[in-house]
Formats: sequence, structure tokens, C-alpha cells
Amino acid sequence: MVLKTSNYYSNNKDKLPNNSFKKAKFFGIAYYIWLLQFYMQLRFFVFLFFVFGLNLSAQNRINIIPKPTSVLDQDGEFIINAKTLIYISEPGIEKEASYFINYMESNYGFKLKLASGKPKKKNSILLNNLKTGEFENYELSINKKYIGITANADAGIFYGLQSLIQLLPVSKQSSLAVPCALIQDHPRYAWRGMHLDCSRHFFETNFIKKYIDFLATYKMNVFHWHLTDDQGWRIEIKKYPLLTKEGAWRKGSMIGPYSDNKFDSIRYGGFYTQNEIKEIVDYAAERHITIVPEIEMPGHALAALAAYPMFSCTGKPVEVGMKWGVETTVFCPSEGTFLFLRNILNEVMDLFPSKFIHIGGDEVLKDEWDSSALCQQIMKDQGLSNSHELQSYFIQRIEKIVNARGRSIIGWDEILEGGLAPNAAVMSWRGIEGGIAAAKQKHYVVMSPGSHCYFDHYQGKKEQEPLAIGGFTPLEKVYSYEPTPDTLSVEEATYILGAQANVWTEYITSSAQVEYMAMPRMAALAEVVWSKKEDRNYKDFYNRLLIHRSLLDARGINYSKTAFQK
Ligand code: ACM
Repeated sequence: MVLKTSNYYSNNKDKLPNNSFKKAKFFGIAYYIWLLQFYMQLRFFVFLFFVFGLNLSAQNRINIIPKPTSVLDQDGEFIINAKTLIYISEPGIEKEASYFINYMESNYGFKLKLASGKPKKKNSILLNNLKTGEFENYELSINKKYIGITANADAGIFYGLQSLIQLLPVSKQSSLAVPCALIQDHPRYAWRGMHLDCSRHFFETNFIKKYIDFLATYKMNVFHWHLTDDQGWRIEIKKYPLLTKEGAWRKGSMIGPYSDNKFDSIRYGGFYTQNEIKEIVDYAAERHITIVPEIEMPGHALAALAAYPMFSCTGKPVEVGMKWGVETTVFCPSEGTFLFLRNILNEVMDLFPSKFIHIGGDEVLKDEWDSSALCQQIMKDQGLSNSHELQSYFIQRIEKIVNARGRSIIGWDEILEGGLAPNAAVMSWRGIEGGIAAAKQKHYVVMSPGSHCYFDHYQGKKEQEPLAIGGFTPLEKVYSYEPTPDTLSVEEATYILGAQANVWTEYITSSAQVEYMAMPRMAALAEVVWSKKEDRNYKDFYNRLLIHRSLLDARGINYSKTAFQK
């Protein structure tokens, strides 16, 4: 209502009396006009009072993270109880309705019903999909009689429901009061991502689903699943069973700080079957989350090469990595390797429908290439002048395999070295320079700089935190991140798809610790990638987070408490 008044005011302000005193011939008329102006000004101050007054109360009653585009707190409450009916505008959004019904049943113990027939605007929740295009916006309108969520597409309905969920009381009760409000909302960026390294440590499928649920809470839409690395291959590939029979298991793991150079001798590993992967891809899709799988190449490939050593340049047997860091054994750019990787990528693309396939590309040591006769011959034949160009050649060969299936590659920013593959997107992690360079070359970019987006870094005082890889990335620093560098032109900036945070797990040994490192920093990043830039205010976010914390407590999430220490 306030917004309408505000629009009305701005639309009609040219119609307000103007310079009336000069034109008035009679005192009576002047007095009348003065009175009218006084009245208008009074109305204006009353209006301001209501706007700011209501905004203050909005901070108390409406604490959604990420902050919506516009929020109007309105008087009163709607009560959800077991008799509340859900209506859908058309077939197709039953899945969003059932998501909400399941959520209500598991968290509050009552099962809402999906109703058919003409929607009744009484004790009901109306989900209205206008189906006008693949947009993510929604309007959530809560009044005393009913709740309406209107969106252009299914995703918007889902996001409206997520906002509604955040407005529910957290304690289990049979009637749930939701504040009346009008919320209009849309995201700032198209790529709102979270990564999880499942190679250094392996996490069971149930936890992967829980992690996906965290993303859904904050309207994140990309789960970057790091499935292969030196220390373990985690995805079943039917054509190459040794990848998981041997490559998924290591003889022991590094323990304690890297500088101690200590290891246990406990066999460690695990992998996801293709059936499990399909189930997780579907689970994510129901939450409007795309999974981008990462298959690392040409470096970070020790686990694959332990299973199939013929695809390194030396062909020497190696073991799945026990030590963290970067290995000299990498894939050789031979025809045999490209066939092997093509077969793997084809199975990967059969499982994951994502537009982007992450092919790694980071931290490739070139020692073996430099001393390989085959590599020297390839460089000569291809007219390549150094090993960076050989890496570029490798990535371009892989790009062709992925493009042939109508997909695109994305890689860490090292893929810029030696020349970017024609259609590649870049994930900028060693700072933002890689992202800037790629955007200037008109390539899509996801920003993920170590300075702000590495959630394996410490978030509080070292003495109070579990052992981490290093760094210091507290909540406020994450919140301060701005994904679009101001050095880009308006046109170049359109190549910044968004941002994501990475959870590398060398020092994260359990799912509880993943939760600890990811939360609540994920909430801060969500606001960076979803909310309006001009609305970002750490104090305001922090105050909402203090209230939101009770939801994390109710769900038993092991979020970091040091983030809340002053
Ligand atoms: C990376 O952190 N090596 C991408």
C-alpha cells in the first residue's frame, strides 16, 4: 500500500498546486491555497512517517535472507493451519506445491492439501505461474485471508515459497502466524553458486542433499560438484570401472597441518554410483538448482592415473594421492587421453543436463610435458611455442568434445594462459584479474576469488576455530564482496554471470565441518549475488541473520558461532 502511495505521489506530483500565491488575486483565495498546501505538506509528512515507521517494523517482522528487492510490511497476519488449502494455477507447479507440503509436514507435523477447482480466497495459498518466460522473479502477497505467489516461471514460485518459509515461526505449532506483506523480488545475478570438494573428503549422498537444501534456502541456483582430484575419483564411469575400483581409494590421508607432513594409514574413499547421481541431479532440479560437475584435467588427475597410468606422459604406475597440494603427474595430451576423456565426458554429460561442464584446468605443472618427446612433437606439429600453449591446445580439444553435445566448458582462470578456448567460460579464483581479462574478451565469467569466496579459510580467530587451510575470510568480508569489477564497461560487465564460494575439503573431514565452514557465510554470499547492490548493508544483514539463526538452530545446522562474536 505504501508503495502504491509512493508511486501515486511521484506520478501526480506535477499536478500539485504550483506557484499559486503569485497567481492569487484575493487574500481568501491565497489563504485557501495556503491551507491546501499546508494540508498537502502535512499529508506528505504523515506519508513519510508511515513509510519509515513501517520500514522499521519491516526489519522486525520480515527478515528474509537474501534481502528481497522490495518489502512492504502490512498490518496483520495470515494464519496457516491444517485446513489451509493450496491452489495451483495450472498443472506443472504441483512439484513446487508438494515441496512446500513436504516441508510443512516434516517441520510442523501437519499435511496441507492441494485443492482443485476454482481457487477460494479464504484460508488458502494460491500459486499462480504466469508462464511468460524463464525468469526467477516473484511477488509474494500475504493478507489476512490468503497468500498469493505470482511468478513468471516455476523457479519464481519456488523462490516465493522459500521467502514464505523464512517468514514462518520456527517452533512447531498447529497454527502459524505469517506477517501480512507485499514482497516483490528478483535476483541480481544468474549464477549464484556454491562448490563442494568431494574428492579430498567424501560426503554421503544424504549430506549432498542437505547441502543442496542449504542452497535452496538462500535461492542459490548452482551447485558446483568437484568430483575428481588427486586424492580420489568419486563418480562411477561404466566404461572405466577402475576409476572407482582403484581411483576412489587412497591408502591413507594427511593429518594435521601441512607443515607437520604426517599421515594416517587408514584406507579412505568412496564414490557416487550413476544411480545416486541421477537421484541427486533430480533432487537439485526440484529445487531449481543446476549441478555443474567438475572433472579435473589435465592436472589434479592422480587418482585417474593411478587407475589408468597409460594416460600420463611417463606411463609409470602412481598411487592415489595421500598428500594435499599439486602433483607433477598429469594427463598427457595424447590421442589416447583425448579418447579416454571423451568417453568419460560423454557419460558425465548423460548424467548432468547442465549447460556448463567444469573441466578444471588449474595448477597444471608442466614438468612431465617439458621432458616428454611426445609433447615436444605435438608442439612442433601444432606450431605451439610453449607449454602454456600446449595446455591451451589440451583445453581446446576438450572444448570440442563438450561443444559437440551442445554444452560449454568452464574452467579455472589458468585456462586463459596460452589463449582461451573459443567458447569457454572462466571461473576467476586467483583474484579477479582473470575474470576481468575474460570479460574483456567477451567470455562469460564466474567470480570466485580466494580473497572473499574461499570458505575453507578461517572465519574467526584461529585459536577458536578448527584447523583450516589458512587465510581469513570472516562473514563481513564475504558480505562486502562486489562481483562486478568497476573497471569493466557496461557491456563487458554483462559477461559477469555471478559469483560462487568454494568449499575445498583438505582440512574438512566431516559433513558437520562442511556446515560449519559454509554457514552462515553462504547466507552472506547469497545476499551478494541476489540482492540489489544499493541495498546491501552489513548491519542490516547481520540483524536479520541474528533472527534467522533460530531457523538454523531449529534445523540442527552446525553453523559457525564465531561469526556472531563481537
Ligand atoms: C583452486 O583453488 N585450485 C581452483
